This record gives sequence, C-alpha cells and structure tokens, in this order.
Amino acid sequence: MFEIRPETPADEYEIETLYDLCFAPGRTALSSYRLREGVDRVADLCLLLRDPGGFLQAAIRYWPVRVAGHRALLLGPIAVHPTAQGEGLGGFLMHDSLERAREMGWARVLLVGDAPYYSRFGFARLDGVEMPPPTNPDRVLGLELQDRAWAGIAGEVTRDPGAETTSGLADGAEPSHIYPTCHETGQPRDGQDDDETAAGAASDQRSERS
Ligand SMILES: CC(C)(COP(=O)(O)OP(=O)(O)OC[C@H]1O[C@@H](n2cnc3c(N)ncnc32)[C@H](O)[C@@H]1OP(=O)(O)O)[C@@H](O)C(=O)NCCC(=O)NCCS
Repeated sequence: MFEIRPETPADEYEIETLYDLCFAPGRTALSSYRLREGVDRVADLCLLLRDPGGFLQAAIRYWPVRVAGHRALLLGPIAVHPTAQGEGLGGFLMHDSLERAREMGWARVLLVGDAPYYSRFGFARLDGVEMPPPTNPDRVLGLELQDRAWAGIAGEVTRDPGAETTSGLADGAEPSHIYPTCHETGQPRDGQDDDETAAGAASDQRSERS
C-alpha cells in the first residue's frame, strides 16, 4: 500500500534529492523558479507518495501565482523516482492533488510541460498567458477547476507572495492510499533506463530556454 500525504519540513531533504535525481542539473535556474522565490508553497497541495517500506517514490508541489491579477496555481515540479516511472504514480499524484485543489476552491492551474503527458489530465495550451522568458509558449498549459476559469485571462504570470497558501483542509485529514498492481520490486523494468528520465528533464529545460 502506498501512502499520499502533504509534505512536512522533515521531508524537505528527501524531496529535493528526488528532484535532483529526476531533473537535469541547474533545474532551479529555470525561469519558472523565479515565480517561486520568496513565496510560500501551497502547503495542502504539496504531496508526497511513499511506498510500503516508507521510501519516497514521488512528489508534487504547487505555488500561488497571479495572471493579470487573477489567482492561479503553478503546478510543479512533479517527479517520480526513476525505478517507479510508468506505473501510474505520477498520474495518481496529479489526480489527487488537483481534486484537493478543487475542494480548496482554486479555480485555475497552469504549468510548463509536455502537452502529450498533461493533456490526459485536461491541460491545454494557454494562449496569451506569458511565463517569464525564456519559456516556449507551446508548453504553457492550463486547466480549469471551475467553469470557464481561464476564459478571457491573458497577461504575464507574476509572483503572489501575499497569497493564502493553507486552507486547513489537510489538518487532521487521513492520508490517501493506493494499492498498486504492478509495483513489486522497486527495480527498473525491462527496457527502461536512466535515459528516459534524463530526456524528460532536459526537454523541460530546453523548452524553457528556447
Ligand atoms: C513525468 C512523470 C512525472 C510521469 O510520472 P509517471 O508515474 O512516470 O507517469 P504515469 O505512470 O502516471 O503515466 C505514464 C504515461 O505517461 C507517459 N509519459 C510520461 N512522461 C511523458 C512525457 N514527458 N511526455 C509524454 N508522455 C509521457 C508515458 O509514456 C505513459 O504513457 P501510457 O499511459 O500511454 O503508457 C515522471 O515520469 C517523471 O518524474 N519524469 C521525470 C521528471 C519530469 O519530467 N517531470 C515533469 C516535468 S515537471
């Protein structure tokens, strides 16, 4: 049984280590990180997933931002340990966190990433929403958690250091659990190697710099 729960300060080192493993060196130089500097994360939506042995297998984080004055969530980074990728853990974290965001009353989410992956969760290109340069506009994707929440919204994405980032929803809440059908050993599957992970990270970096 895997457990999903909001991260705590004690998890910080493990999560940063997982991100360092899954992304190319220099990930914090990406332009999207400028939106996160000096801003508290949305604590209730920063989730981690541990396997039955307690090992960290995946993590997702969210920050508050503004787009032309409108509140929005910036999704990312999300990462799954290389030995567990392709087994549904990333998808589970996406669905679980987005559902929590909806329950908390957030209306809209954006991210910088691969449309072929994120479209399965309902994300689509956001025309006219500008991430700090250099960011490839084709990779700026949005999701509406409320009806027409992105309609008519365009402009620069900016930091939101004054945002309310806790809702209290997570206080006392039971963690989520999932029962995977195929994650048995924690070893790489046949045909999967580190190149896939490296390619994902490099792709994100290239795009934000292109
Ligand atoms: C991207 C990532 C979070 C996905 O998590 P995951 O648990 O491996 O993915 P899931 O098991 O939920 O989904 C697997 C599916 O997503 C697809 N997929 C994974 N990464 C993809 C990408 N970058 N582009 C398109 N499809 C992708 C797989 O091909 C697979 O497709 P299928 O269902 O048709 O077989 C994970 O692979 C990862 O951590 N990658 C390295 C870090 C990264 O690139 N993070 C995202 C940028 S913030």
